[in-house]
Formats: sequence, structure tokens, C-alpha cells
Amino acid sequence: MKTLNLHKDVSFDVQKLREEFPILNQSVNGNPLVYLDNAATTQKPLSVINSIDNYYRTINSNVHRGLHTLSERATEAYEASREKIRDFINAGNTNEIVFVRGTTEGINLVAATFGRTSVNEGDEIIVTGMEHHSNLVPWQNLCREKNANLKFIPVSDEGELILDGFENMLSERTKLVSVVYVSNSLGTINPVKRIIETAHKYNVPVMIDAAQAVSHMKTDVRDLDCDFLAFSGHKIYGPTGIGILYGKENFLEKMPPYQFGGEMIKSVSYEKTVYNELPYKFEAGTPNISGSISIGAAIDFIKSSGYDNLYRHEQELLAYANEKFNSLGGIRIIGTAKEKTSVISFVLEGIHPYDTGTILDNLGIAVRTGFHCTQPLIEQRYKLPGTVRASFAVYNTKQEIDMLAEGLKKVKNMML
Ligand code: ALA
Repeated sequence: MKTLNLHKDVSFDVQKLREEFPILNQSVNGNPLVYLDNAATTQKPLSVINSIDNYYRTINSNVHRGLHTLSERATEAYEASREKIRDFINAGNTNEIVFVRGTTEGINLVAATFGRTSVNEGDEIIVTGMEHHSNLVPWQNLCREKNANLKFIPVSDEGELILDGFENMLSERTKLVSVVYVSNSLGTINPVKRIIETAHKYNVPVMIDAAQAVSHMKTDVRDLDCDFLAFSGHKIYGPTGIGILYGKENFLEKMPPYQFGGEMIKSVSYEKTVYNELPYKFEAGTPNISGSISIGAAIDFIKSSGYDNLYRHEQELLAYANEKFNSLGGIRIIGTAKEKTSVISFVLEGIHPYDTGTILDNLGIAVRTGFHCTQPLIEQRYKLPGTVRASFAVYNTKQEIDMLAEGLKKVKNMML
């Protein structure tokens, strides 16, 4: 088995950090694994794996339900993690932090509660032309149900939002603006603070899909002044099946529950139910306890790496990959915004993205191919059958980008 033994980058001790990610040290199809599909999901450090293991070995018990010691310990760890998340995104209060399954459920929750009670016939919701399906389909569905209209902020050829007409799109009919912070398929960092300021001038609340933002840059909900924000644990080095919905307390208070059952109640009689206080009103049923606790370990990992280091390292990788790709020739990068995270979507001229992805996989290189859950953007806006997407995380190296570039040369030799 071939192994990678040199992962030296100038600004960051990547080699040391890689040791914390046991999954990276393996071969795939006879080659060392080069994992470049981090926008789909990040790998997990030992601290997160150990946190899950430790939970089931030592305190597994239901939360907020038992008087016994294990239940108290599990509850304590669960609530301590909520506080860690509050601090991480600088929310004002833990009442504003709701554990959900992921970004998708966070957005669906807002659509099914705030959306259903606020949007009526003829009203409008504004999204962008670069939304992930999870920030598009829930609003399409709501608008269809309510006979409301979904409007789109257009996207430029470079993959930036065209905001010139945004203010004119806002009116008393606008009930919500819901915008992706960082595009999963282009890497564009959108100017969400400016969008929020503009929408607030018209008293329109704003939801932020921060799934691709939180692992790359400090996200401060009070500085942004967003009204809702959702992100997923598995994209920030944490477990799958857990995510966070942040909502301003004044909105969450007024919203009806999302699901009904245990935990979201204060008292129940045969005739009626009094709902629990925030945030439990939105946490019906036994939650993903180990995930909720272990997302705290993921946050500790990010904090100990340091956002500055992380961002600098990823930006270096992005610049290096751009350079390499430009020298390859016959490659078109989709998404060349000025502000980008470490994502490169591209097509090799004359070669279908699936062929590129399949050949790279044979070489042990994991990238994503296709629409990346942004079919309207890729197919309708850019008129492409898909792209190949390489997305870099804190543990990736320039050497891996060299291997990707070599792989792409092989793809061209085989296919052209
Ligand atoms: N949203 C994930 C991606 O971009 C799955 O790949």
C-alpha cells in the first residue's frame, strides 16, 4: 500500500493535524486516499469519534426525563453543548439554539412554522439563483400551497449575486428573504450582512443557510443580525444527523411547534396541551443526544485549530489549485467570485463530469460530480450537465492538489 508521507505546508502543521483523522490514512483502489469532497461532508477528528464513543460507553440515557444519575449527566452534557454552540455563533441566549437533524431540517422547520403562519396568497419569498435544493424546495412547496410567489436574486457569469435590483424586489408583500451564505457548488461567499441590512429596512426577516460557511469562517449571528440561521454538524467535522437552527427569540416565541409529542409539552390533558418553553417547544421526541454532545467536540476542534489558521490554509490551497488548474489547460472553472471559500467546481472541456469523477475515484481521489443539489444553477443558469467539484478542508495539502492535477492529466489522456 502506498502512503502519503509528505504533507508539508508552510503556514500550518498539516501532518500533525492529519494524525487526528484516522480515516485519511488508508488506500482506496490501491492508491492513497485523497479526500476532496469536504463540501459534501468533512471527516471527523479523534476527539469527535471519542466523544460519541464515550457517550455510549458512559452516560447513554434519555435527557430531561429521568431523575437518575445517568439521565442527569446526559442532560448536563446535552445542555453544555447547547451553550457551547450559543457561544460559537454568538447568539444571545440558549433559547435561540434548537437542535435539529441538519440544515435541511432547520429550513424545513422555519418553512413549516413561520412560513405557514406568515405567508398568504400573493405574498413573496426571495431566495437566490444559487440555492441548494434544501433552501429552494421548501419555499417552492410553501409558495405552491399558499399561492405565493418565489423570487430569485440573479447570479452573474462569475457566480456572484447581482444585487442591483434587490432593494426593488422588497415590498410589504415580502415575508422572508432566505439566502445561502456560501454556495456549495461555486464557493462564493455572499454579502449576507448587506442583504440583511437592506431587507431589514423593509422589516423583512432574513434566514441564512450557513451550511458551507461555519466550517470556514467565524459566523456571528448578532453581528450579521440574521433572524434565522441553520447549519449542519457533519460539515464542521462533527457527526451526521445533527444540526442547529438559530432563531431570534421573538420569532421563535410566536411560531407554532414543528412536531408534536414528548419533550415539547409543558402539560397535557385529554383535551388540550400547553407547549413547552423555548427551545424545547421545537425538540419533540428523543433527540440525537450523542450527536448534540459531539457537535460540541467538533466546535472545540475548530476553536483549537483557530479560524485564522484554518482560513489562511484553505485560501492557500484554493490559490494553489487555481494556479495548477490554469496551467493544465482545457479546464473551465465554474464560479470565479472575488470572495470564495476553498471550493473549485470545474469541467474538463469535452469530457463528461461523471467520467472525470469515475477515473479520479480509480486513482483514490474523491471529488463530487453532478449538480451538487443545485440543479437549477448548474443546468438552467450555466447550461451544464454537471461539474466536478473539489472542496478542501483544513487537513488537505498542496501535495494532494498535485495528485488531483496529475489525475486530471490522466483523465484527459484517456478521454481525449
Ligand atoms: N450539500 C452537500 C454538497 O454540497 C451534500 O455536496
